[in-house]
Amino acid sequence: MYTHLQLRDSTRPPVSLATLDRMKASGEKIASLTCYDASFATLLDEADVDVVLVGDSLGMVIQGHDTTVPVTMDDMVYHCRAVARGLHRPLLMADLPFMSYPSKDQALLNAVRLMQEGGAEMVKLESGGGQIEIVEFLASHDIAVCAHLGLKPQSVHKTGGFRVQGREQSAAEKMLKTAKALESAGADIVLLECVPRELGKIITAELQVPVIGIGAGPDTNGQILVLYDILDITTGRKPRFVQNFMEGAGNNLEALRRFVQAVKQGNYPAPEHCF
Ligand code: KIV
Repeated sequence: MYTHLQLRDSTRPPVSLATLDRMKASGEKIASLTCYDASFATLLDEADVDVVLVGDSLGMVIQGHDTTVPVTMDDMVYHCRAVARGLHRPLLMADLPFMSYPSKDQALLNAVRLMQEGGAEMVKLESGGGQIEIVEFLASHDIAVCAHLGLKPQSVHKTGGFRVQGREQSAAEKMLKTAKALESAGADIVLLECVPRELGKIITAELQVPVIGIGAGPDTNGQILVLYDILDITTGRKPRFVQNFMEGAGNNLEALRRFVQAVKQGNYPAPEHCF
């Protein structure tokens, strides 16, 4: 029996967690981008992006805030629903925003909202040791979970800004330990933000699950960037790991295809994008 998802386009089967596991095993890199609306979602689908994240970065690039902290569950559901309408092949992941997962029950309630109202297939939460039980609880309810480690933008007021994480040996060891604990708790993917490339390499090698990096070097199983950064829409100072894929591209779709190709061929990130 075919599922509704498989029937949508049998020549381009939807990306699932099993697809990502196979990509990790075979060495094929995972190309991932953020997205916030249906029009761009259609283009990301056409460009063959593997994983689309409705990130709470929408607080900064769509709403104009300085951080992701003001983003609400209603904001996330609204944008996720719009993105879901434009997608067929990519796996759709959505962020649980700031303070939407302070307890296991609230995490479950809000993950269900992202899935039932927003159409997400997987939820992402910024994770430290304190979130292990929450990941375990969501996983025990068969919810696909991505654990976000390294620079955690929801914590910037506590950690003192957008800085590279895990530079010191003790911090790197702690992050590796936490990543392993989150995997054991049931995390299906780990996302690593802004860590030295060597730490990205070690965590990727030590985990069974796929690791997707942003500013985490070339050795992770995949790369994710903020859509508006690669299309050169974001104004102001850009992080070191950002590459402008509009340069030399005739239109948005071509820029997206160049990003996917650069990730798949291992040409992005280059040494100048790494910490
Ligand atoms: O919200 C977001 O866009 C993210 C990316 C930085 C990975 O979490």
